Amino acid sequence: MQALVTGGAGFIGSWLVERLLQGGHAVTVLDNLSPQIHGTAQPESLLPIGHPALSFVRGDVRDRELLDRLLGGCEMVVHLAAETGTGQSMYQIAHYYDVNVQATALLLELVGTRHRQVRHVVLASSRSIYGEGAYLLGGELIVPGSRSSQRLAAGLWEPVGPQGEPLQLIGTPEHAPACPASVYAATKLALEQLGRVFAQSYPTSVTALRFQNVYGERQSLRNPYTGILSIFSNRLRQGLPINLFEDGLESRDFVHVSDIVRAIVLALEMEPAGYTVLNVGSGEPTSVQRIATMLAHRLRSKSELQISGDFRAGDIRHCYADLRLAKDRLGYAPEVTLERGIDAFCSWVETQPVLEDQSERAQRELSDLGLSRIRP
Ligand SMILES: NC(=O)c1ccc[n+]([C@@H]2O[C@H](COP(=O)([O-])OP(=O)(O)OC[C@H]3O[C@@H](n4cnc5c(N)ncnc54)[C@H](O)[C@@H]3O)[C@@H](O)[C@H]2O)c1
Repeated sequence: MQALVTGGAGFIGSWLVERLLQGGHAVTVLDNLSPQIHGTAQPESLLPIGHPALSFVRGDVRDRELLDRLLGGCEMVVHLAAETGTGQSMYQIAHYYDVNVQATALLLELVGTRHRQVRHVVLASSRSIYGEGAYLLGGELIVPGSRSSQRLAAGLWEPVGPQGEPLQLIGTPEHAPACPASVYAATKLALEQLGRVFAQSYPTSVTALRFQNVYGERQSLRNPYTGILSIFSNRLRQGLPINLFEDGLESRDFVHVSDIVRAIVLALEMEPAGYTVLNVGSGEPTSVQRIATMLAHRLRSKSELQISGDFRAGDIRHCYADLRLAKDRLGYAPEVTLERGIDAFCSWVETQPVLEDQSERAQRELSDLGLSRIRP
């Protein structure tokens, strides 16, 4: 089959393209090689350029004529191109909307009106649309709202129920209410909604995959706005301290990129039907402190891991995926353990140049705009 992969030179995209080529598919990649992510890297260093079934086009996903031309003859589209920095999205609001929402609208419009041979569009969504993860209170699923700054200032990190009741963390299922806490997350929710309405109206099916925190070899070590493992590993290699916010026990669902790519391929292989939305992750919470400790150990770093008690208003405490629906619909289950994934990631990191740390600058940009309240 002929596939168009937007953002195919990126982290997840480059893994996916390799997998699709191995599976005998013909692939067109549309990517603008954003300098924030790729620096001055040439496509040859990102993709198997020269492969007879791969066509690489450097261009912008917002370019109507280009997109129209590339959709000709495609049977499936995986739309990965996006701006991905949560903090950056808070002050580049129009740009994030343009790239993440407007371009998705354009893609769907072209598929619906001019390229109905496209059977299936897979959209890259994000666990960030949930905001805080799901919990149980008296046997009922609840998604608590943002933690109050008074509680955070008092070092009371765990979310509580409406009357201050303790909550039990559970995997977040797809039917949990969405409550984006950033512009980036809001763009991903808008992308999903466009996909849902589109699939109800046109013959092309749409699957939105809500990726958790994806890590692995080839993730951008340059982009200071996203990728906690990249940011930590770059600092650890320079002996710079790691600031662990809150008490370090806030947790996320870290999933290796090869599991994400397997889920995308499974989604492409399933008989598409209307609109589907699925979580994809490891299905397990891991604290940020544990990730930092594993990386520091594996990279033999002397950096100090500082549990600072700093906090950012709007940050969530925990979120991990309930994978039952992905298992049921796709037969998806993660295969890469955290230990194995981190080992592979670190082995690759060690082959990469150490880059000047930009994460403090990225943090300052936010605080200068009053968007990040970190306890001094
Ligand atoms: N990595 C994660 O943890 C994660 C988690 C949830 C969702 N996602 C989503 O998965 C997708 C892929 O993420 P990734 O981690 O591979 O990111 P990435 O930044 O490595 O890749 C994105 C690619 O899109 C390209 N791009 C950006 N703007 C473009 C434009 N205007 N036109 C054409 N190309 C453009 C970039 O050059 C890059 O190659 C994104 O949609 C992202 O929001 C990623």
